[in-house]
Amino acid sequence: MDPEQLAAAQLTLNQASSMPAGFYTDPAVFVAEREYVLLANWIFLARTDQVAHAGDHRTFETVGGPVFLVRGDDGELRCFANFCRHRGSLLVLEDGNSKQFVCLYHAWSYRTDGSLLACPGMTAAENFDRADNGLAPVRMQVWAGFVFVTFNDDAPPLTAALGDLPDRLASHRPQDMVCTWTVTLDVRCNWKLILENAMETYHTGTLHRTSVGAQQSRTLDTVGDWKCIQVTSGRSIATLPGTTPPFPVIEGLDEDARQGTYFTVLHPACQFAVAQDCLWWLNVTPVAHDHSVLEIGGCFPKAVTETASFATDAAPYYERWELVGREDVGILEHQQRALGSAVYRPGRLSWRDDMVQSLGWWVIDRLPASIVPRA
Ligand code: FES
Ligand SMILES: [Fe+2]
Repeated sequence: MDPEQLAAAQLTLNQASSMPAGFYTDPAVFVAEREYVLLANWIFLARTDQVAHAGDHRTFETVGGPVFLVRGDDGELRCFANFCRHRGSLLVLEDGNSKQFVCLYHAWSYRTDGSLLACPGMTAAENFDRADNGLAPVRMQVWAGFVFVTFNDDAPPLTAALGDLPDRLASHRPQDMVCTWTVTLDVRCNWKLILENAMETYHTGTLHRTSVGAQQSRTLDTVGDWKCIQVTSGRSIATLPGTTPPFPVIEGLDEDARQGTYFTVLHPACQFAVAQDCLWWLNVTPVAHDHSVLEIGGCFPKAVTETASFATDAAPYYERWELVGREDVGILEHQQRALGSAVYRPGRLSWRDDMVQSLGWWVIDRLPASIVPRA
């Protein structure tokens, strides 16, 4: 990345340009981000209610490789690296419910608590102790039903990263929500473009003119590794304009939260959008400098999901989330292609791009000098 272009991106917003193209297109930047940003911090995986019963398990491809969540027979939720301790084959291939996991390669098997159950043909192995050959745990912490993992044993606790986010969202009572829907999109763009997009309403009046339409937002102060804007609207924007959101405002929602929808980034790569009646996430899994996987997940208060008409009432939310998500993904893939131009030069930012600028600098601040030359 060009030092002068980096310096121009660091000027005060009304003088600043966007990031050099290499921030989004250079494989070496991505390698450094993986080590210093993505593996170093907490990564959102799923809701605890998605693995509610003993034996329930879900698999994930993460920046740290394949992992799976499993609810043990003892009721405990655990996360393991998804490889067999014999010679490393992928162990769990599908989401589902199992009493044990049997490797398809040589039939080593494991209990739901990760311990080794059986290992045929290992009687002659010397100094081999089954107790040392259980599945490799991945560090996991849960906040309000949201499951996070990290590949960094030295990462401060999740609560430090979340800062005052739990306070901001307390009156939404996220711990009482359940996930009822997800969709996964394969996106040919850099992971940071997806985050930047959801943190500015500059584009909504044009890109989303036939769906959600123009929006206004204000930037809120945060403490911790997260950022927040509030898209102001007296009604939930989780269904399209012209519709009436069928679900009530969450009981006890505080005055501030009633003013609109919080759009957040939980660094490094997760976003929660929190409206007056529901919550949806945009969880980005970076795959390569120009390839990401975006999962959108929708959550509602548990009591709402138990009403007789829930499936019908929730359908417009799912349609809106996927429609707008696909509109964004389309433009982001165009942006990625154009950023590869041999004559690309960073363009000037709008006052409405404040979060775009600060998201970029959160990442830049964590990269080594070999990747981020100082002017
Ligand atoms: S790799 Fe799993 S049993 Fe051999
Ligand atoms: Fe958008």
